[in-house]
Amino acid sequence: MSKPRYVMALDQGTTSSRAIIFDQRGEMVSVAQRPFNQYFPKPGWVEHDGKEIWASQVAVLTEALAKSRLDAADITAIGVTNQRETTLVWDRATGEPIHNAIVWQDRRTAKYCDQIREEHGARIQEKTGLVLDAYFSATKVKWMLDNVPGAREKAERGELCFGTVDTWLIWNFTRGQVHVTDPSNASRTMLYNIHTLDWDDELLELFGVPRAMLPQVKSSSEVYGETSTRFTEVSIPIAGIAGDQQAALFGQLCTEPGMLKNTYGTGCFLLMNTGDKPVKSANNLLTTVAWNIGGKTTYALEGGVFVGGAAIQWLRDGARLIRTSADINNLAHTVEDNGGVYFVPALTGLGAPYWDQYARGALLGITRGTTDGHIARATLEGIAFQVYDIVKAMEADAGQETAQLRVDGGASKSDYLMQTQSDLFAFDIVRPRTIETTALGAAYLAGLATGYWPSIEALHEQWQVGQVFRPKLPAERVQEMLHYWHKAVRAARHWIE
Ligand code: G3P
Repeated sequence: MSKPRYVMALDQGTTSSRAIIFDQRGEMVSVAQRPFNQYFPKPGWVEHDGKEIWASQVAVLTEALAKSRLDAADITAIGVTNQRETTLVWDRATGEPIHNAIVWQDRRTAKYCDQIREEHGARIQEKTGLVLDAYFSATKVKWMLDNVPGAREKAERGELCFGTVDTWLIWNFTRGQVHVTDPSNASRTMLYNIHTLDWDDELLELFGVPRAMLPQVKSSSEVYGETSTRFTEVSIPIAGIAGDQQAALFGQLCTEPGMLKNTYGTGCFLLMNTGDKPVKSANNLLTTVAWNIGGKTTYALEGGVFVGGAAIQWLRDGARLIRTSADINNLAHTVEDNGGVYFVPALTGLGAPYWDQYARGALLGITRGTTDGHIARATLEGIAFQVYDIVKAMEADAGQETAQLRVDGGASKSDYLMQTQSDLFAFDIVRPRTIETTALGAAYLAGLATGYWPSIEALHEQWQVGQVFRPKLPAERVQEMLHYWHKAVRAARHWIE
């Protein structure tokens, strides 16, 4: 019998690089993870060093193999998934970045966005599905070309490459042979037309970005190239690419229209599969490409909560009510209910569907009987309420009701949070056996391209539910809670003027 083979996912996130090896049943065999430096050169600026990202990614690849006593020859394919929007520009000849990567969280181009919003905002949204914001790559590339001496001229001569992190990693792994991305990443640049599925000349002109520096947009699941033997003992095909949130949607096997997932990370990212049609949002959500497989494009609606798990971190590090994040669950269980206390975790403003950067956190309904247990409950519930509001906006946009929500991310380990989420929605919350769904999604995309897995249907057969949370709370109580939550949101909104 031949030796079993495996698929590796490279998950390049905002704060760490990871490599995870999966077997054919989709079980994790090995994980390696390394953090890297975050640079904050000025208030509101966030940068990464492209070289550090690259070095950490190679290091975890090697470590994941060593931990599982596998060699490169045991890996049939690599799938790449990544923090999205983060922007790199490098010299095509030397591979040297011309500047640190500008991270998605970076706000340096916010003023410029304000200046062009009235004239161009609607047109940009129509073409890209995105709300004009400094979050996306376009204004970050523009900033580099405007601010690094000689960069624009070089870009025009075709001497510079632009890429999101997927592109940067694959360019390096192939030693500059392959300059590609996929539509899920391209659709976050604000330079890509999600209807024509091509870079958009009008937007390239608006932001002054020469086409010559852009990667070729391939599908999300195909062999793009192979790793150079400088980095792996034998060449491994690189066969899948997706932005991390879209990869998680795929890893959750939300492959049918109407299916949605939420990742409870520092923030929360909710994505709903809307099938082969981009749905324009009337409720301030983003329209984005989920993936393109075999020439078929699947779209998604996306909504983000800025402060999800970060609310628990604040309770730990700011309010100091708990010692470890997991302690919040025990504390929440010291009380029967929330005791009328509501916490709007608008610690950095409110994301979708409110988009209020002037909102601030609010803790309301406190009485003399309020304990730390009530505040713990209010914090977990505050996360669940925000997710509730986004799903309602998605349902309105998609004209479709939701049947269940699949969940992943660190805070999805909280049974109390998951139960509350199910109670609010009055439908099932499904937590899969593998909550590493981002990496799993990238592995699936790569394994499908190389025939390691025969079809999406075969993946559905092996995908396993870990736990299902079913609604328990009476509808009247849920209505009452929602009433107070929305009252609290109104109080928190436009707090600073
Ligand atoms: O859009 C930003 C998102 O892709 C970042 O995800 O998990 O690296 O923080 P994460």
